[in-house]
Amino acid sequence: MTTTPPSVRSGTAPSLISTLPGPCYTDPAIFALEQERIFESLWFCAVRGADLAGPGAFRTVRIGRESVLVTRNRKGELRAFLNVCRHRGARLCTEESGEVRRNLQCPYHAWTYDLDGRLIAAPNLVRMPDVDRVAYGLRPVHLREWLGYAWLCLAEEPPSFEDTVLGAAVERLGDAASIERYRTEELALGRRITYDVRANWKLIVENFMECYHCATIHPELTEILPEFAEGFAAQYYVGHGAEFAPEARGFTVDGSAGPGRLPSIADEQDRRYYAITVKPTVFVNLVPDHVILHRMFPLAADRTVVECDWLYAPEVVARGADLAKSVELFHRVNAQDFEACERTQPGMSSRVYREGGVLVPSEHHIGTFHHWVTERLADRPG
Ligand code: FES
Ligand code: FE
Repeated sequence: MTTTPPSVRSGTAPSLISTLPGPCYTDPAIFALEQERIFESLWFCAVRGADLAGPGAFRTVRIGRESVLVTRNRKGELRAFLNVCRHRGARLCTEESGEVRRNLQCPYHAWTYDLDGRLIAAPNLVRMPDVDRVAYGLRPVHLREWLGYAWLCLAEEPPSFEDTVLGAAVERLGDAASIERYRTEELALGRRITYDVRANWKLIVENFMECYHCATIHPELTEILPEFAEGFAAQYYVGHGAEFAPEARGFTVDGSAGPGRLPSIADEQDRRYYAITVKPTVFVNLVPDHVILHRMFPLAADRTVVECDWLYAPEVVARGADLAKSVELFHRVNAQDFEACERTQPGMSSRVYREGGVLVPSEHHIGTFHHWVTERLADRPG
């Protein structure tokens, strides 16, 4: 993590460094490799736990090239399986969400699985005593819960959750306790907006990582966070949160007061904004009275669905507080950001971008992300 802003750097480092070449954002073959070596290999934030209300509730979610079924078992614990029947491979659940009463039954030949994935019934199963009901159960997917979300990993041996997911918050905030103080897992959903963005997922990550664009496209945000107008402030200092403007009463579209500070955050977290990128697909924004969590679902080289949740104290949502101005601020930021990404996507196919573009000094940290992507896609044994 860089701790010195680029404007005060001395020495001979060049001002402009290269980006990834244009085809990295357009080539279906590169996207297929990313599916295999990034989305199917790392922890992927898939589903908000509270969206699965009780036993039998399910969601299906696409991770890389797989459809994954997330459900709750009879004990109320989250479970995830590949959404593929072990008999002849029919998709078990075709809906995005729903609820089964007790079991998951394949609509093709009625193989039936309990909510822990065990094969419990099939036509004539009693006449096939040699069939191992666990071995022919649904293929489980690794699952961890954090911030109230189910994080899934399709790899047989997942990378350390502590290093790759929790570590991202520690790297940005300086310690593990800072994000835990928001008690995100206890917050309630105030609003969810889904954006269908016609841009490569990496353009969205790169945009989220830099602030060079803030003065140009985010007038409302820079009113509340004046240091963002400088273009490089917050992300350069471990533990630093951008300070609210003195006249801002809250993190709202017009600077009016928000629903009130979360009781568990520290005094030094009040009137501050923190942004965290958890590679590959999650952005977390922390402000005193809510948490905004983005989950990206890359669907094609030039298409990414982004689901954005605004999370508030449960009593704020329960009393029906007016959250419109609170939600509107970051909804506008999202719309402005995604429009910029969509404006950039066609340029990735241009001959002028075949070798890529450049990063200015306040964007140099994006080079670290590019290096990370390149390393992940590099040939590895096995
Ligand atoms: Fe599912 Fe036959 S494919 S029961
Ligand atoms: Fe932005």
